[in-house]
Amino acid sequence: MSVVRGLEITDAASTIAREAGALVREYRQRGFATEYKGDVDLVTEADRASEKLIVERLREVFPAHGVYGEEGTRSNIDREYRWYIDPLDGTTNFAHGFPVFCVSMGLERRAPSLAHDADGEIVAGVIYDPLRDELFTAEKGKGAYLNGGAIHVSRVAELAEALLATGFPSRKRHENPNIHFYQEITLRSHGVRRAGAAALDLAYTACGRLDGFWEFNLNPWDTAAGALLVMEAGGSISTFDGGPFRLDSNEVLATNGLLREELLKLFEDMFEGRFLEPIPTPAEFAARRAQRGQPQPR
Ligand code: IPD
Ligand code: CA
Ligand code: CA
Repeated sequence: MSVVRGLEITDAASTIAREAGALVREYRQRGFATEYKGDVDLVTEADRASEKLIVERLREVFPAHGVYGEEGTRSNIDREYRWYIDPLDGTTNFAHGFPVFCVSMGLERRAPSLAHDADGEIVAGVIYDPLRDELFTAEKGKGAYLNGGAIHVSRVAELAEALLATGFPSRKRHENPNIHFYQEITLRSHGVRRAGAAALDLAYTACGRLDGFWEFNLNPWDTAAGALLVMEAGGSISTFDGGPFRLDSNEVLATNGLLREELLKLFEDMFEGRFLEPIPTPAEFAARRAQRGQPQPR
């Protein structure tokens, strides 16, 4: 199978993602063991089994490619082609039986002369939601698809009419300012969803179910496939200050393109502390309730 024939790559990756998704679905039915990776970061048997399966299949189909997986795979990563694998995005959801999770596979092409810390180009991306049997695929320059039908970002042009999504990290949650961004964007839009699978948030932005998505502290396995989907579906993806998206950017702002400037301006304002709507403290709220003659919370 030739690597320049993108369609074949995406087809092969789709087969692998479907197989991994079916395995995750089986674990969901039969039960699985869960462990902690750190204080609050969960990992299950299904995460590990899914990564093992994906890595084995990739080695069979693309023996010359490197693989970089969330659950620890670092195989041939000096090669021209490198897969970023999230074998189960939405582990916390999966572990709790909340039905929102997926498998994500993004392929980066790194020209042989590229500096080791420079980004290559993302050339293919596949995200599979095994519970809804939804397969999102994209190839550079060839558009984005959901179960084979072309998808496009939404046409919502104003934040006031937009539905967005974000996420919160499980690690170092106390150091993350996103609750302020969540509050501000909630007040200025139709709402903000926090469904718990960043790759699906990006796929949903690509197909217009969401008008935008942002998150702090993501990893390349969360974003590689979804970033290409958003771009190929006509959207924009950048850092919070509008800089080019990089696989190691950590922060991601994805939009339908029409909302890009308004959101970038808002992010600038928020980082500068301008126009922020104060959040009442629980004590302030309780005092106001008491003034209105309502009972104090016990
Ligand atoms: C997590 C999910 C979640 C996001 C976290 C990610 P995982 O990935 O994508 O939505 O908020 O930042 O770490 O750990 O379930 O693969
Ligand atoms: Ca993830
Ligand atoms: Ca994961």
